[in-house]
Amino acid sequence: MDWERLQRHLISGFKLGNFSAHDQDHWRRVERYGMYLAPINGADIIIVRLFAWLHDSQRESDGHDPLHGERAELIARTLCGDYFQLEPHRLELLALACRDHEKGRLTEDPTVGTCWDSDRLDLDRVGKTPDPQYLSTASARELARLRPADRRREAGC
Ligand SMILES: [Fe+2]
Ligand SMILES: [Fe+2]
Repeated sequence: MDWERLQRHLISGFKLGNFSAHDQDHWRRVERYGMYLAPINGADIIIVRLFAWLHDSQRESDGHDPLHGERAELIARTLCGDYFQLEPHRLELLALACRDHEKGRLTEDPTVGTCWDSDRLDLDRVGKTPDPQYLSTASARELARLRPADRRREAGC
C-alpha cells in the first residue's frame, strides 16, 4: 500500500485550493482521529485511513455540496485495484462510509462509525463543537467532551 502515491493523487486532483476547510489538513486530522479510535472501536484501520483521504477529496464547493459523498464513493471504486487493494466486502464498507458520510446518520458498524466520528470530531476547525448526539461510538463521545486543543493533542493531530 503506497500511501504517498494515493495522497499525491488526491491532493493534486483537489479542486478547492489551499484555503479550503475541507483540504488535506482536514484529511490528515480525520486520519489521526481514525487511527486513535480504530483500535478502541475494533474498526478496520485501513478502511478508516482510506476514508479520511477520500471522503472530501471530490468536493466542488466548500458550501452546500450534497453529491460529494457519492463522488467520493465513485473515486474509491475507481482507485481500488490500482492505488490500493481491498477485498470486495471491505470496498463496500468504504463505499458506504464515503457515500453517506454527510447524511447526519448514526451506525452500529464499528468501522463506518469510526469513519464518520473521525470526520465530525474535526468540526471545531470551523468553529462548531462536535455534538455527541451525532457520534456513533463511545470513544468518540469521550473525545468530544474535551476542549479542541486537548482533543487534538490526545489524538496526536
Ligand atoms: Fe464531507
Ligand atoms: Fe470531512
